[in-house]
Amino acid sequence: MNIDDLRRLARARLPRVVFDYLDGGAEDETTLRANRQALDDLRLTPRLLGGGHVDLSTEIFGQRYAAPFLIGPTGLNGIYWPDGDLHIAAAAAEAGIGFTLSTASNTSMETIAERVAAPRWFQLYPWGKPDFSQALIERAEVAGYSALILTLDSLVGGKRERDLRHGFSHEIRMSAQVVLDGLLHPRWLASVWLGGKRPRFENLERFLGKGASNAELADFTRSQRNPQFSWDDVRRIRKQWSGPLLIKGIICPEDARLARQAGADGIVVSNHGGRQLDGAPATVSVLERIADQLEDGATLLLDGGIRRGSDVVKAMALGAHGVLLGRAPLYGLAAGGREGVDRALAILADEMERTMILIGCERPRELGRQHLAGVERALSGKALG
Ligand code: GLV
Repeated sequence: MNIDDLRRLARARLPRVVFDYLDGGAEDETTLRANRQALDDLRLTPRLLGGGHVDLSTEIFGQRYAAPFLIGPTGLNGIYWPDGDLHIAAAAAEAGIGFTLSTASNTSMETIAERVAAPRWFQLYPWGKPDFSQALIERAEVAGYSALILTLDSLVGGKRERDLRHGFSHEIRMSAQVVLDGLLHPRWLASVWLGGKRPRFENLERFLGKGASNAELADFTRSQRNPQFSWDDVRRIRKQWSGPLLIKGIICPEDARLARQAGADGIVVSNHGGRQLDGAPATVSVLERIADQLEDGATLLLDGGIRRGSDVVKAMALGAHGVLLGRAPLYGLAAGGREGVDRALAILADEMERTMILIGCERPRELGRQHLAGVERALSGKALG
């Protein structure tokens, strides 16, 4: 079984409106496809022997994890499986994998902290007035989150046409189409929709009060978008948060420099899984340039299109210290709840270990350019002459 198999199972279980929110990207989805294509175009150099004792464990911000892939922040995990955030967090903790909770999670950061062992990270959007982020930062600190990811590529939502066609905007509003879609996917309908625990943006309930309806919470998230958000706001957040700070959404080396100047300890090279600016380059295609100009000591992570253990290896060979996973564990969650997430993480670890053995590299931090055989397109017209 592989991640694509989990995706197929997720597709069968979820109503189309929900699957498309998970699977889709912005506009023509060129960036969504480019992330995958760029990883596929990279070739690894097989090396004979020398990879007999692989140890995937990796240190990030002084914490040792079982593997260099971490759960990235994704909102609305409860629409795939009841208590989706809790299942993912628990699976990650058991596997010794890092976990990030989104501001737009369905389970509150406090509940996750009560129920699942640390370490865990929290993610913020460039939303709201200063008191909005300050309140969330204080809560994250009290609840024991160790690092903060600030996602800066979301001043406005990407134009996600699959969602627009379904009338879906971070909340399932009832329509004849949705009812029919739900009836055709009875396992999802019974567990998520009729199961009595409709997903809510629990982190935001404190701003509106527990009695707020789902629609009010969804409207509140949209009303918090703040187009004025600036690098000064990043500096302000830097002052408010004492732990490691990562800026997510960086594609351009100049923005990596500005993030460091604003006090970030690290960056996440990301195009939001192709969900924001369609036409942005694939993340692995810009990684090396960013890695080259980032000083030692800065943490460099990447996300976008990671579906195989070999993808993690490729990203690290180009300079990443680790990668964030978005859709891969979500396909697992949607396919089979906790068991599906366990499966997704085990698949990636197994594939990564095999890849490391076959390229003769025992430690992720030893990965480098030497493990890549160059960017080629197999049997391209040119190669054939
Ligand atoms: C939210 O950030 C999303 O990509 O849906």
